[in-house]
Amino acid sequence: MMKKKILITRRWPESVETELSKHFDVTVNKSDTPLNTMQLQSALKNYDAILPTVTDKLDKHVFEGIDSSDVQTRIIGNYGVGFSHIDLDCAKQLGITVTNTPDVLSECTADIAIMLMLMTARRGGEGEREFRSGNWSGWRPTHMIGQKVSGSTLGIIGFGRIGKETAKRALGFGMKIKVYNRSKIDDKTLNAFNAAQVSTLKELAVSSDFVSLHCPGGTENTNLIDQAFLDAMKPSGYLINTARGEVVDEEALVFALNNNLIAGAGLDVYCNEPNVNASLLQFDNVVLLPHLGSASQATREAMGLRVLENITHFFNKEAVPDRVC
Ligand code: 8YV
Repeated sequence: MMKKKILITRRWPESVETELSKHFDVTVNKSDTPLNTMQLQSALKNYDAILPTVTDKLDKHVFEGIDSSDVQTRIIGNYGVGFSHIDLDCAKQLGITVTNTPDVLSECTADIAIMLMLMTARRGGEGEREFRSGNWSGWRPTHMIGQKVSGSTLGIIGFGRIGKETAKRALGFGMKIKVYNRSKIDDKTLNAFNAAQVSTLKELAVSSDFVSLHCPGGTENTNLIDQAFLDAMKPSGYLINTARGEVVDEEALVFALNNNLIAGAGLDVYCNEPNVNASLLQFDNVVLLPHLGSASQATREAMGLRVLENITHFFNKEAVPDRVC
């Protein structure tokens, strides 16, 4: 039987590319740069499966710019859990299945959320910059004083897999957990995390020392963290975003930082990646990471194997484990 034609849009860990090539006729985007609209349209016309990442914007514009009868792609196996870069309605209309890679990156992303909390409140980035610049004059009782993380209150927005992993870690720091989630979390789950669910975003904002975002991106959560939310946060509070850039109104965040409405922010994701709102670069109390959430060797391999599992099931006409549409 002819092997299915697969396009991997970015370089993956070598072991997974090799594994994939055993089962499929694989083309790899050797330049390892994001595909543009025309390249994505060409991919939709020429491959049975496309395996994109967050950098490939499979939006309405891409889908609607080609004749549906030209589309060869049957499955989009996204390499990553978030899929707000893919227009699901368009994919559905064309009968294209879309899958993602949940679970395998929850721990690593939660690790980064905790790292950002520690780095912001304990001034890790700022301290390292001072040290490397040769400006450290030595220990003194009043030097680079931060805020205590242990025992503080963590407000989590979105209590899915990554939100829970973050809570699990925070419990190790003796943190009190508050949760905002659209649907009601059952008492058993809340009790397991010693967490309290609040019913409004404002309640979470006013009572948290850290607010960590773990909800999906996309239109429904765009600018969820707006001026009003940031205004309601404690002036000593920190905002942590490892979810998606669009969840935070970046202009409102810059305003909040300029006016000391919050104490700082730790960001791993941005509205317009890889570009960053230049104003954010000026704040010493903001830690900026280049979308490292899932960036560990084991996780990136597991993500690739999860994609392989999804497309294998799909082409074998079996139930697809991580179907999102
Ligand atoms: C991925 C992520 O590495 O999985 C996600 O949603 O945000 C990242 O950790 C990235 O999306 C790869 O496509």
